Parts: sequence; C-alpha cells; structure tokens
Amino acid sequence: MPRAAPTSASATFEAPPNIALVKYWGNRDTELALPYNSSVSVTLAGLRSRTRVRFDPELDRDRVVLNGETAAEGPRAAVVRMLDRVRERSGIATCAEVDSENNFPTASGLASSASGFAALAGAASAAAGLSLSPRELSRFARLGSGSASRSVFGGFVLWRAGSRADGRDSYARTLYGERHWPELVDVVVLVENAPLKEVRSAEAMQTTVRTSPDYPGRLERLPPLIGRIVRAIGARDAGRLFPLVMEECDSFRDVCETTRPPLDYLTPASRAVLSEVRSLNRAAGRPIAAYTHDAGAHVHVFTLSRHVRTVRRAVASVPGVRETLVVRPGPGARRVDRSGRGDR
Ligand code: PMV
Repeated sequence: MPRAAPTSASATFEAPPNIALVKYWGNRDTELALPYNSSVSVTLAGLRSRTRVRFDPELDRDRVVLNGETAAEGPRAAVVRMLDRVRERSGIATCAEVDSENNFPTASGLASSASGFAALAGAASAAAGLSLSPRELSRFARLGSGSASRSVFGGFVLWRAGSRADGRDSYARTLYGERHWPELVDVVVLVENAPLKEVRSAEAMQTTVRTSPDYPGRLERLPPLIGRIVRAIGARDAGRLFPLVMEECDSFRDVCETTRPPLDYLTPASRAVLSEVRSLNRAAGRPIAAYTHDAGAHVHVFTLSRHVRTVRRAVASVPGVRETLVVRPGPGARRVDRSGRGDR
C-alpha cells in the first residue's frame, strides 16, 4: 500500500561539483548509468548546489524550481525521474516540491549536473525517510547523472565501474581526503561565448561508443593509466601527475573529435588556453601545470600553490578568457537542515 509522506517531510542537501582527471565517457548500460571505465575526480570546494525537497500531500503535481525559475520540461523530467525512484523505494505516493539553486552561474557552463543530482538524491531520499549510506547515495545519484556518483564524496574520488549487471558494485569512494594535498590548486578558466550543451552528455557518449574508431583503444589504455594517476596523487607528485592528466584529457578529446558527427566542445579560446599551458611547461622545463576539460568549453588548469600567480596571469591574458577562479579540493555532499522538519 503506498503511504503518504509524514506532514512536511523535508530535507536540504548541499553538493559540490567535481572535475574528472579520468573521464567517464560511455555506458555499458544506459538505463542504470553503468560505465565501461572507472573514473577519477577531484571534488571542488566553494562551489555547490543546494537542494530542498519537501513531500507534500496537498500537491497534485511535482513542482520543480531551479535557480528561482520553474524548470523547463527537459530538466523537470529528469528531476521527476529521480523523485519516482525515491517514491518507489520508500513506498511514498506523495508529490514533492523541489527547490534547487547553484552558487555558481549555471549558464556559465560549469558542470552542474553532478552537484545538482547528488544534492537532489540526498535531499529526496532523506525527505522520504530513507537513510542511505554514502555508498548507497552514490549509487542512487549515479542514476540521475553518472558523474553525480562522485560528488557524494570529498577530496580525490574513484568511481569504480563495477561489472555486475544490477550495478551494485558501481559506486564512488574517496581515495584521498580533501586535505591530502593542500598545495594542489585548480585554476578554473571561464571562456567567453561558451556554447550551451546541445546534446546531453549521457547521449553524446553513446554516440562515441558507437562511432569513434579510437574508443576501444582508449578503454584498453585506461586501467594502467588510472593506476598511474592514482599512485601519482597518492605520492603528491605533480611532475608525474600533470602529464598523465593531459594525456587522459587528450584521449577524451580525441574520441569526441572522432565521433560521427564530431563532438567539439571547445572554442578557439579554450584551445588557446591548452597551448598556453603547454608553453608554460616548456618554458619551465618541467610540468608545472596540467589542463583538463569536460564536455564544455571551460578549462581547468591544475597547478601548485607556488605557481598559481604565474599560471593564472598567463591563462587570464589569453584572448577570449572571461574570468579565472582559484578552487581547491573540498568536501562531499552533506545534509544542511538539522531535523529534516524545520525549513532553513
Ligand atoms: O554525468 P554526466 O552524464 O553529465 O557525464 C559527465 C561526463 C564528463 O563530465 C565529460 C566526464 C566526467 O567524468 O565527469
């Protein structure tokens, strides 16, 4: 028997975005978001989605407000799918009100799906009275957006691809906490005229799986590369890590560009930032910075505290760069309302 949620069952969660050092790109099961390869990311401090979910017996339809505006049909449908999963699991039949906002501009093209779905999965499950372990929450968030599985955790995070058909072994965990490597900095480079995504990543990546001749080679190379990247992070060895991060980003970009029709996420300014990082490393005679980017035009440039000024000045002067932010590794998702009953 479906039951109504307790009156004003609400919860608020905050979750950060993350940037992948080894990208998730391609699913063996699209319905369950089960990837072909494991991925590694850094959770970003200071940026967050905050999402409040309230199940209310008075509502006859789910209400979804994103950044102060009623959500458009596409994003609303994705939120409702997540609510349906929570209702199915908790046995509640009640509609919900969802209010979510980011403290960074969504239109800037900074990935908001990871933080948004991690916060939504946390708030909706808590409001429904489910008490999920972080691992269960990671699996749950994965169903909304694969990369959201990693935003549940702080610091340096590994999402194990897993091999089971039901996805129980496909979840993320912290490899090294957010204080593991305080000198590591992400200079986020926002470029002008970053195009808004035309095709959702979840769809675009399957086109790559089907059409890029380079995709099988990428999958073969990834397991040893992941091992080397994880060991370099463990040793806090930028000299080893930075070239590997760029190698992985180049492999990701290559399979995008060899997809038919090609996926081109970068603008001329983004490409100029990549060249600038290569020149900085050439001039220094060793890797002092590493670029990476997701399925978007903005670039993340990793460096160490002692090189931040040089690196930031160099990338900020590239024509077409709008703004740079200095971001460090940070904590994962957390509930921010105390009792779950009161509103904040
Ligand atoms: O989580 P999704 O479905 O938005 O896909 C994310 C894909 C990349 O951001 C390009 C890579 C990643 O691992 O975050």
